[in-house]
Amino acid sequence: MSISDKENKMIIRITRRAAVLLFAVLFAAALMTGCGSDSGQRRDGSVRIGVTLYDQYDTFLSELMNSFNGYVDARKAEGVDIVTVRQDAAGSQSLQNDEVAEMIENGCSVICVNLVDRTEPTPIIDMARKNDVPIIFFNRELVEEDLMQWDRLYYVGADAFQSGILQGEMATEYCKAHPEADKNGDGSIQYVVLEGEAGHQDAIIRTEYSVDTMIQKGIILDKVGYAIANWNRVQARSKMEQLIDSSGTGIELVLANNDDMAMGAIEAYEGREIPQEEWPVIFGIDGTEVGLQAVVSGKMAGTVYNDKDGQAQAMEALAYALATGKPLQNLSLPGEIRLEDNKYIRLPYKKVDQKAAEEILSK
Ligand code: BGC
Repeated sequence: MSISDKENKMIIRITRRAAVLLFAVLFAAALMTGCGSDSGQRRDGSVRIGVTLYDQYDTFLSELMNSFNGYVDARKAEGVDIVTVRQDAAGSQSLQNDEVAEMIENGCSVICVNLVDRTEPTPIIDMARKNDVPIIFFNRELVEEDLMQWDRLYYVGADAFQSGILQGEMATEYCKAHPEADKNGDGSIQYVVLEGEAGHQDAIIRTEYSVDTMIQKGIILDKVGYAIANWNRVQARSKMEQLIDSSGTGIELVLANNDDMAMGAIEAYEGREIPQEEWPVIFGIDGTEVGLQAVVSGKMAGTVYNDKDGQAQAMEALAYALATGKPLQNLSLPGEIRLEDNKYIRLPYKKVDQKAAEEILSK
């Protein structure tokens, strides 16, 4: 039986339409698979969030991650199918780049990156853009030009300047209220600074603004030493022991860039069996569990609260919205906090004296 011209044309038309339809179906399926879709939603409706830390043993970040996990659990309790994949970059930027590549390959809808080297975000940004996976950088702030490299890059953290100013104000208030802080009565305060990692925005800025604030507020300062202790309690203890050995009990004030290093300073005085009345006044930043306890016990004169819980809440809310294609303008954020310039979420710091430390610990 031969097919007429008319029948032939009809078959060709039907075949073409079927091909167009098949192409459309395949294209839509491809869009919905993994994290390469516009909304970021995975095909099975689940949300997979990757997190990589510069160092999982960092005290502040461990506490921030505990809060973050709490927000993820609350989301699960609402019935959302959400999983987090967490990796430790253990201080290696190239390992962190590999971790991000693997998370992308394993279908993460969004990745939260605590950069090892905040000046080297480009390999991660390039991978993210190529695969259309948004990135939330947190705590270790990349420069603005880098964050502007692509519109699906975000930063969650705090304002480093504010932490330095608040620490300087607290130390000033203390010195004015306690003239005996000037132990040798020479009219100036002999001080040392324990600094975080060289090159970290918080270390550079906290040191500068804490000291400058005190000077501006009329305290005469005399720097007797400083040490870089990389945010670390053990390093701070040994550096502080060296400073004690070289300056005796002549140090009147310790400004530590974080609570862990302030704790290291306390341990150094305890280890040298120097009675607490002879210690300098010690200030930290962060308000970690141990830091707050030291403020309550009076070993530390005060700290500045680095809002780990607010940062964790913001990071989870932003990650969830990005993963599910929800609008970013109605994120559930603490207080008046907003996503600024469609890029930044910054949580404010707060001064913590003994009473405030008790209140935070009792929550
Ligand atoms: C915290 C430090 C922490 C560092 C890690 C800072 O904001 O104050 O305690 O070690 O971030 O990047």
